[in-house]
Amino acid sequence: MSHPKLNNIKVCAFDAYGTLFNVHSAVARGGQGLGDKAQAVSDTWRLKQLQYTWLRSLMKNHADFWTVTSDGLSFALEAHGVDDPELHASLMNLYMTLDPYEDVIPCLTGLKSQGLHTAILSNGNRAMLNAATDSAGLTELLDASLSIDDVGIYKPDPKVYQMVGDRFGVSASEVCFMSTNAWDASGAADFGFNVVWLNRFGQIPEKLPGELVTQITSLDELAALL
Ligand code: LAC
Repeated sequence: MSHPKLNNIKVCAFDAYGTLFNVHSAVARGGQGLGDKAQAVSDTWRLKQLQYTWLRSLMKNHADFWTVTSDGLSFALEAHGVDDPELHASLMNLYMTLDPYEDVIPCLTGLKSQGLHTAILSNGNRAMLNAATDSAGLTELLDASLSIDDVGIYKPDPKVYQMVGDRFGVSASEVCFMSTNAWDASGAADFGFNVVWLNRFGQIPEKLPGELVTQITSLDELAALL
């Protein structure tokens, strides 16, 4: 696929979960006891975690990402017939230090050497983001780790995307945003960011507003666009 070149980008902002961090690495590391249900539990966990962010935002009944992640896991375990509070606790603990994808450090290192600002923009709460970036060795490679804790509502509320401009003093057109989550890519594009959809899993695009600049399958492809 040939990609358009992006001009005048000052900040590269990244979604965290699913984009930089592999959300399935918690069950991969600690879910042996789930046997052949492991992938189904991990998939349901992620699905319910995200649904609860959107539903709580609509209900105007906010709870932080640790709570919705815990509630999502409770649902997933119950849905798959697992009653194991210790497993719940150990998977939540593992969620604090998820594995980064292997293209993340080379990408962030390259962007920094190009003189670009780098940031996370995530639903994650500050404690979760700090633990994940520290354990993955990303802290020095990020100029900011922006959490929705500061606005009290989840993506794709425009208030979340506005945090990047507020933090760096740039306009939306000077931001390049990467997310693996297609709905987040749409939300960010609808807000006005230049969005490169990191389509790691060969998904089809969401039928939502927001025009994407392009899609890539690995962060290795990003530097060539900037
Ligand atoms: C995040 C979720 C959407 O990091 O993956 O914001």
